[in-house]
Amino acid sequence: MSTLAPPDFDYIVQLVHRRSAIVLEPGKEYLAESRLESVAREHGLASVTELVQRMRSGSLDAGDAVVDAMTTNETSFFRDAHPFNALRDTVLPELIEARRVARSITIWCGATSSGQEPYSVAMLIREHFPELRDWQVRIIATDISPSMLDRTRQGRYSQLEVNRGLPAPMLVKYFTRDGMHWVVAEDLRRMVSAQYMNLNERWPVMPPFDLVLLRNVLIYFDVPTKQAILGKVRQQLRRDGLLLLGGAETTMNLDANFERVPHGRSTWYRPTGA
Ligand SMILES: C[S@@+](CC[C@H](N)C(=O)[O-])C[C@H]1O[C@@H](n2cnc3c(N)ncnc32)[C@H](O)[C@@H]1O
Repeated sequence: MSTLAPPDFDYIVQLVHRRSAIVLEPGKEYLAESRLESVAREHGLASVTELVQRMRSGSLDAGDAVVDAMTTNETSFFRDAHPFNALRDTVLPELIEARRVARSITIWCGATSSGQEPYSVAMLIREHFPELRDWQVRIIATDISPSMLDRTRQGRYSQLEVNRGLPAPMLVKYFTRDGMHWVVAEDLRRMVSAQYMNLNERWPVMPPFDLVLLRNVLIYFDVPTKQAILGKVRQQLRRDGLLLLGGAETTMNLDANFERVPHGRSTWYRPTGA
């Protein structure tokens, strides 16, 4: 049972929404309390109630830590499989053909969490497209959570994490063991750069992207926020670029200026007029 009083929970709901656009539904008091316990402890406080009351009175600014703790960071290597099969079989081969002259590919993993997604893309590229070794291939991984960005930079995963989705031959080939953990090869870490970015605030200057993976994050936002983000993604995509969303997400009824582009058993989206 949560002991978080309604006004304290409401304060957290408003703060998290204002800063990250994440919508915390009523009834998530228990979730808030369990996730904020570590923040209270870090500030030497006995309870989440004390944490919230200090914040409400203005005697403590722990907003960033609260937002970080309230993000859901569920992810895994090669999550959902089909989009990665499509990348291997058609999306990347077609893109490589289109970029033969420029010899440069830029991919954005927005809301990257702990980095399994960008490293899955990097591994897939190394594994199946050796010709890209002397191209400029950049994977920009962004997230609102500083702790997740640190994890992405470290590229260090537990046995449990590598057991989720990573084929054993790839583990052996692209990771080295460090005690109880596995560390991503330096070559792959160089392909991935991790940067802070709040999708709900002014976006930093970024290069035009050939591929955008924005998976399993729009689900946390309300409709106007989803629409605003999709509109900005369109501006960031090259005219023949492609957007991939999570399995439960779509541009339909949100942004009419994307067209669906099926690739194998996954759906990608391209700005219309391309
Ligand atoms: C469920 S994870 C998705 C990870 C990965 N894309 C995947 O599909 O496996 C959602 C991520 O969105 C991030 N996030 C939530 N709100 C955000 C915002 N306003 N701006 C940027 N990232 C945000 C969270 O920190 C979290 O790491």
